[in-house]
Amino acid sequence: MREKKGSKGEKKNRKNLGCPDFLQCWACGKENEFRPNEIFCPECGKPQLFSTPPPERLTIKHSAQNPLEKFASFLPLKNVRPELSLGEGQTPLLPLKSIERSGRLLAKLESSNPTLSFKDRGSAVVVQKILELGWKAVGTVSTGNMASSTAAYAARAGLSCLLLVKKGTSRSALVSSAIFNPLIVEVDGDYGQLFRESYQLGQELGIYFANSVDPLRIEGYKLTAFEICLQLGKAPDFVYLPVSAGGHFLGLFKGFKEMVLAGHTEKIPRLVGVQAAGCAPIATAFKKGQASVTKIKPAQTIAHSISNPDPPAGSLVLETVRKNRGFLTTVSDDQMLQAQKKLAVKEGIFVQPESAATLAAYDQLRQRFRGTSVLILTGQGLKATHQPEIDDRQYLSLTLPDLKEALRSIYCDR
Ligand SMILES: Cc1ncc(COP(=O)(O)O)c(C=O)c1O
Ligand SMILES: [Zn+2]
Repeated sequence: MREKKGSKGEKKNRKNLGCPDFLQCWACGKENEFRPNEIFCPECGKPQLFSTPPPERLTIKHSAQNPLEKFASFLPLKNVRPELSLGEGQTPLLPLKSIERSGRLLAKLESSNPTLSFKDRGSAVVVQKILELGWKAVGTVSTGNMASSTAAYAARAGLSCLLLVKKGTSRSALVSSAIFNPLIVEVDGDYGQLFRESYQLGQELGIYFANSVDPLRIEGYKLTAFEICLQLGKAPDFVYLPVSAGGHFLGLFKGFKEMVLAGHTEKIPRLVGVQAAGCAPIATAFKKGQASVTKIKPAQTIAHSISNPDPPAGSLVLETVRKNRGFLTTVSDDQMLQAQKKLAVKEGIFVQPESAATLAAYDQLRQRFRGTSVLILTGQGLKATHQPEIDDRQYLSLTLPDLKEALRSIYCDR
């Protein structure tokens, strides 16, 4: 499966690299042919996104069950193979009426994807393209949601999977990936450097590295924006989402932009990116009026999934926010945990603190940003490294003979 340099398999892979799709560099505008493991512009080193097909080609196949089939004309895939799907996408858009009675606050439940996070939308597109190109292996640099999602989709597609994880990654974080049988390698070294080196490794070994800002993943994330427009019948005024590397943000923005191009909605909503106060390089650059995002030294935060001190698409997110009346803000760990509890108690929704950060940001900005707002709830609560405490007042341990008396005293005294 993992082919050696110069092997027959590698030559086959190289022959397949000539795919007709094009990526466009956001910084210099240059169009480059899409090549696996070459996601940054060869001219200027900045991230690239797939070029949008001409508007007349953008049609929605409403009768299709599979979201990739439904939006196939928007995607850089020759054919969609629905049998590779795990049922990702088509997630609920729920009004949060106990929190906001007007009904103008809604949540897009990305936590209901097959491996419990939005990453599945990206992984679904990645495996389709890898098989189309004739590659046999997929890899990713991640310790969390992206690792388990990539491993699950690789298993479904019959691809071998390599996960490069940070030294010291907790056992609980590894379990949700290990079950799918990937090769997991814990690497002691700089995580940002590992991210960059993974592409050279991938090229040499015939492994497609689908990391956080992979253009194929971004194509998958677009579909969240498409679905929101169809579910609401229009684009909302504001969309709140947690931001780390920046891939998800770019996907949402590209998706709304393409909905406008295709004539399915009139405007791009204002996107509000939320970062953890303990690790907020993009929000800090925004606040300080910096031209680009610089690497920071992170402080402590419980929000592990969104704590990237050197976000590869940070400057692109910053520029997109500035040019499109978006906003970037930070929330504290305490605010995230309170918002997590509020979503659970008032609405019955259990998400990661990283995802609940969107509600904390909404509470901060609701007076200023009035209008229909959608919170993207990116990951399910059980997937978080930080788990909420169980309050002693809600948990009793009793013997059977004591049960009746104890419950009577609780319920009859009410
Ligand atoms: C639950 C959750 N929310 C948000 C994000 C941020 O996404 P991105 O790194 O694409 O900005 C991540 C990234 O891993 C995540 O796991
Ligand atoms: Zn460029």
